[in-house]
Amino acid sequence: MAEVQAGRRRRRRRRNEGIVIHDDWAGYSLDLFSYPTHYSGDLDSVIIPHGVIMDRTERLARDIMDDLGDHDIVVLCVLKGGYQFCADLVDQIKALSCSSERTILMRVHFIRLKSYLNDQSTEDLHILGAEDMSFLTGKNVLIVEGIVGTGKTLETLLKHVEAFRPKMIKVAGLLIKRVENRSACVPDYVGFEIPNRFVVGYALDYNEYFRDLNHICVISDSGKKKYKI
Ligand code: IMP
Repeated sequence: MAEVQAGRRRRRRRRNEGIVIHDDWAGYSLDLFSYPTHYSGDLDSVIIPHGVIMDRTERLARDIMDDLGDHDIVVLCVLKGGYQFCADLVDQIKALSCSSERTILMRVHFIRLKSYLNDQSTEDLHILGAEDMSFLTGKNVLIVEGIVGTGKTLETLLKHVEAFRPKMIKVAGLLIKRVENRSACVPDYVGFEIPNRFVVGYALDYNEYFRDLNHICVISDSGKKKYKI
């Protein structure tokens, strides 16, 4: 029993970490991939190619299905950065629901958070479209977020959601950053743990640019200058 519990704890820990991308990983050269030519010179490297994101998302969907199969859930998609991950994750869960005995009934809601200007977090977090979330009371909620940096945004959102007394809250985050003083608040399902660099693509933006890029890339200094406001 103790071994089984230790095994469960190990599995849980791995899910919390995701695939770890180390600080010394320089990423793939952009020349090895296709990407929109309007971003030439604006990116340093591809840190996670689109295909790898899709493969990892497929596995996260299976982990979620293992834990939550046969439940009804409300998916809370955190816009704008989480829209692509949420769409792909929901697609994968739907595919599993069609091909196995177990199934998850999902309803999807969208909320919008904004706390970053250029590449800096601001104290000013806005939650839009979430004033009344009483539809979450007594429900199983899966929050889907694109990236967690310091964790402050997630912490604030969790407090807001908890106030509506859902039955259960789980969080799926595609990326978590290794930042100093990260809040203890980490997603239950993590795609990748990445170095503390500003990344864009796959719906993650820098001042609204780069959402139209499939791979997750590191923005270059000249890219930051070009799109700075
Ligand atoms: P936190 O409060 O520091 O965890 O920041 C989380 C939010 O900051 C995310 O929802 C994103 O909107 C944004 N963010 C943090 N790091 C990045 C990044 O590297 N690229 C794009 N957005 C980021």
